[in-house]
Amino acid sequence: MEKIIIAIDGYSSTGKSTVARQLANYLNYIYVDSGAMYRAVALFALQNNFLSKDHFDKDLLLSSLPAIKIEFKKENTMDHANIYLNGKNVEKEIRTMYVSDFVSPIATVSEVRKKLVSIQHQMGIKKGIVMDGRDIGTVVFPDAELKIFMTANTHVRTLRRYNELIEKGQKVSYDEIFKNVQKRDLMDTTRVDSPLLKANDAIEVDNSETNREDQFHIILQLAKDRIAKRI
Ligand code: DC
Repeated sequence: MEKIIIAIDGYSSTGKSTVARQLANYLNYIYVDSGAMYRAVALFALQNNFLSKDHFDKDLLLSSLPAIKIEFKKENTMDHANIYLNGKNVEKEIRTMYVSDFVSPIATVSEVRKKLVSIQHQMGIKKGIVMDGRDIGTVVFPDAELKIFMTANTHVRTLRRYNELIEKGQKVSYDEIFKNVQKRDLMDTTRVDSPLLKANDAIEVDNSETNREDQFHIILQLAKDRIAKRI
């Protein structure tokens, strides 16, 4: 059967990654979490002290860009591919609040975006891919056969992220996550290069009141219809 490209964009903590991963597993497609790539660059900048609370040395980051190697690898013990930064598995580290607080400024840097978009293009060359992010349907794959734009209200998203981090044993407060979600929404939608916006041909899915299962079935049906060219 013909393979397509599925682009899933939307605000942070709308469950993009969950549904993208479910879809990829079901369709036997590759799943790529593009946000993980921006998080890995932010982690690199933090580890090398290019970035801190009141300082961001963009020039140093730019001169180090060629030395940043980002890969996704899946080993038998993993249920999904993990992200590697210069050979080290950083899947867990990139999900901490520490990285979440610093990733948006990194995502505004055009040179960083250019490098990551080029890796993302390579991964989509053979199609059969589900990629989630902010600019996948608008910039990375403007010709994707199926584009989904996910939204949900801010309190629902905060609660989801809060429960997820508490489950992972991280010490976080609801208020701190609420502020982080609001701050990232603002930065993601107002940045000059590739801001988060719904592509004209994207289908909007608001999941404030839909559970994971129902949402998966709604989007899977859209994918099946698009693959069979019914829509
Ligand atoms: O999806 P996420 O929350 O893990 O993404 C982390 C950050 O990376 C997010 O604040 C915006 C940025 N991002 C981006 O600018 N473009 C993408 N395609 C994916 C993520």
